[in-house]
Amino acid sequence: MFSSQFTWAILQIIIISALYFINFKAITFEDQQKEISFIRHGARSPNKYNPLDQILWKNYKPGYLTEKGFQQLHDLGQSSQTNYFYDAEGNCIYQKLNFVSSVIPRVMHSFIGFVKGLCPYNFQGILRNYFQDYYSKYSQNENILNEIMQSDFTNPLIFDFQTFKMERDFLFHGHSSSQCPKLDYIKEEILNNQEYLNKNEEFKQRPEFQEVFQQMKLSNSSLDEGTITINKMKTFYGGFKCNRYQGFDKPVLSLNAQKYLDEIFIYKFYKMDNSRSIQHFSALTEIFQWIINQIQGDHTISLYFGHDSNQVAMLSVLVEEPLIPPFASKLSFIIQGEYVNLYFQNELLETRMCRSKINCTRGQVIKYLEQYISKNLNELCQI
Ligand SMILES: *[C@@H]1O[C@H](CO)[C@@H](O)[C@H](O)[C@H]1NC(C)=O
Ligand SMILES: *[C@@H]1O[C@H](CO)[C@@H](O)[C@H](O)[C@H]1NC(C)=O
Repeated sequence: MFSSQFTWAILQIIIISALYFINFKAITFEDQQKEISFIRHGARSPNKYNPLDQILWKNYKPGYLTEKGFQQLHDLGQSSQTNYFYDAEGNCIYQKLNFVSSVIPRVMHSFIGFVKGLCPYNFQGILRNYFQDYYSKYSQNENILNEIMQSDFTNPLIFDFQTFKMERDFLFHGHSSSQCPKLDYIKEEILNNQEYLNKNEEFKQRPEFQEVFQQMKLSNSSLDEGTITINKMKTFYGGFKCNRYQGFDKPVLSLNAQKYLDEIFIYKFYKMDNSRSIQHFSALTEIFQWIINQIQGDHTISLYFGHDSNQVAMLSVLVEEPLIPPFASKLSFIIQGEYVNLYFQNELLETRMCRSKINCTRGQVIKYLEQYISKNLNELCQI
């Protein structure tokens, strides 16, 4: 009698603790949120100055982050503050920063802005550690690296960061022919394609074109209407956005002309730069491999600091709707338990990763991303 009661009591304890354990596991698994985000650098100067830019920007380096761009990332860092990053004193815990960054100067400057916003009390220590562990691998000048490490990062825009280079950079520049020479042939093929030639003519027949061309001509008087292409208009519009963000009132474009140029941007991003399978493989292999590692890894937050080209390469296969990333834009995979959702600028996107378009499972997402991972990128790119 005693022994069976005893056995029963033990059994009850085992059952209750098993149930509790299963329930507890389920709760923590469900509640656990993971974020994997892709952040674009902030506002910059135009990459190449035309005569008008030369007057407006004077000695400011082309393609560099501006003070306003720095502030954008600082604000983004501030709005990213969550308990996860901090110890009891409110200092960021270095080990929690699972960040990767392009070493193009405007991205490194953006990164610093972000960390200053995220870790107001100990950004200097965090940045020194990060330069030591991450950026130093890509430094080509020991003296400049030391100078940076000894600085207090209160005036980071004084460093030009030109001495940092990634030799093999498919994670940030897989879309570029400097990494994948084969892309030059693809570009050539697209530019000679009848579909492209027709589209180019079609854009130039549109009434908005005359306004755009006039403004282009004010920026560079030696431009000839016959030689204007989608590519040139895209570059011009990119520069316009830089000038606009900086507060310059030139060039001037009506809203209609801006909408027209948005269409050109979309055509260039989605029908030229990210339309062929080799372009997808080259631009996405390492990025998607990184995402899969983050999905399977232990980090709660993983951040990637890069370029609009990276976000567009992803968007071109992840969603139907063509989007244009503004400065400091954010594309995020948010994972809750087993479910994954994609957000752009904090708005939920319908994706192509599974039939239901939202709430895809981790398994579905990984399987979808794997389609764009090439096992022999070097051969494909003819390196
Ligand atoms: C101005 O346009 C001409 C003709 O397209 C081009 O050759 C030249 O490089 C342009 N100048 C600048 C500074 O962009
Ligand atoms: C997506 O998943 C969330 C959390 O699991 C759930 O609350 C929501 O209702 C789901 N939405 C749809 C449309 O299934």
